[in-house]
Amino acid sequence: MAKPKKRYTCQSCAADFSQWAGQCGACGAWDTLLESVAGMNPAGMTRRAAGWAGEVPQSQRLQDVTSKETPRTATGIGELDRVLGGGLVQGSVTLIGGDPGIGKSTLLMQAAATLSESLDVLYVTGEESLQQVGLRARRLGVPAAGLSLLAETCVEAISESARREKPGVLVVDSIQTVHSESLPSAPGAVAQLRESAAQLVRLAKQSGIAVFLVGHVTKEGVIAGPRVLEHMVDTVLYFENDAGSRYRVIRAVKNRFGAVNELGVFVMTDAGLKEVKNPSAIFLSKHDTPVSGSAVTVTREGSRPMLLEVQALVDGSHLANPRRIAVGMEQNRLSMLLAVLHRHGGIAMYDQDVFVNVVGGLRVAETGADLPVLLAALSSFRDKPLAEGLVMFGEIGLAGEVRPVYNGEERLREAAKHGFKRAIVPKGNAPRSLKIAGMEIIPVQRLDQAVDAAEF
Ligand code: TYD
Ligand code: MG
Repeated sequence: MAKPKKRYTCQSCAADFSQWAGQCGACGAWDTLLESVAGMNPAGMTRRAAGWAGEVPQSQRLQDVTSKETPRTATGIGELDRVLGGGLVQGSVTLIGGDPGIGKSTLLMQAAATLSESLDVLYVTGEESLQQVGLRARRLGVPAAGLSLLAETCVEAISESARREKPGVLVVDSIQTVHSESLPSAPGAVAQLRESAAQLVRLAKQSGIAVFLVGHVTKEGVIAGPRVLEHMVDTVLYFENDAGSRYRVIRAVKNRFGAVNELGVFVMTDAGLKEVKNPSAIFLSKHDTPVSGSAVTVTREGSRPMLLEVQALVDGSHLANPRRIAVGMEQNRLSMLLAVLHRHGGIAMYDQDVFVNVVGGLRVAETGADLPVLLAALSSFRDKPLAEGLVMFGEIGLAGEVRPVYNGEERLREAAKHGFKRAIVPKGNAPRSLKIAGMEIIPVQRLDQAVDAAEF
């Protein structure tokens, strides 16, 4: 039998090399190459080498593949079911990522406890002792009759005990603490992370156990974090706001069984995470009187519309390169929008620092927030508040046009429901036949029309 080839993997960028070196040739990091084994096969022999002993895989016609709905089990937590695409799928692997302390273990303990009423659940903890997990469960006051705990960090041992106990759900908290015996590197290294996850994915697919993996986002960003596992798993959920706020938002960034960008909203209480079933207006800061630099918009994240507030601060800069800081949206997009405002709106901010923040620590991933970002910036620049009860959305193109966004009418209804009286919307989004009760709609086609409509 051929000796398994040794590979060297950079622990920082995951690049693969056949020879060891002090510096990674791909990312330039020092002393990050660690040995890994290429082409490892648990049986020790490939099927080709075994002469395809009567088991050449047979293809199937697409029309013959049964298209029956994947059976789902409700986790008992509506907002989690929502981001999962309507419940937990048998044999699926779900990665839950987020900053340390944001509530991953809390959420999974709550989900595991409710799931344990209908399925056997095995909760593997590599980070906390059994006592700590037990204490948390008691504090959360969750029913835990069908819940088994295991303190273990070796992935082979975890797989083996899962194969024996045959639970319906396996939770591994966290994947960074798990290691495989077949690799020499430390737990948490990229090679370990990949190998452990690969074994658990194989376990899920072979046995039909639904697996949850917890992944910490590392301080340096996402390197050696859950990112390197995203392509291996079926569903990737990230906690996206900071731990400073009481609200916790989970976004599905990948889902083989449902829609992406679906949001689940929770609030952290003394008794764990509670669902926020109707999160539409929680991300608005309530001002007694209108303040300049604030604009309200309706985004549509996933399958529901949500009211959001965009705040901007524009202030004279003393720097040669004035700052453009965006929290909750892409910085490049902010620079682009300011350039459009200059070119097509005739308003120059090149000598101003511009800060933009989406209230509530949320991230806006769609372009409907372009118009509110610009109007909030303009409102701060001129120190004039936007009118009360005004809402707006729309994508801004490089030619200064205001482009329609999807689900315009639904967004308008949501705003009307929360008492907004006027809306500046792209012409393509203005409702043709139906009227939105109690709302004045101002359709605009170009950025300068929108600025006029805002009546600074
Ligand atoms: P945890 O779920 O352990 O975070 P993670 O697993 O993502 O690292 O805990 C999150 C935080 O929530 C922790 O700082 C304590 C707090 N917390 C509550 O406020 N209420 C609770 O009921 C629990 C269990 C935790
Ligand atoms: Mg934890």
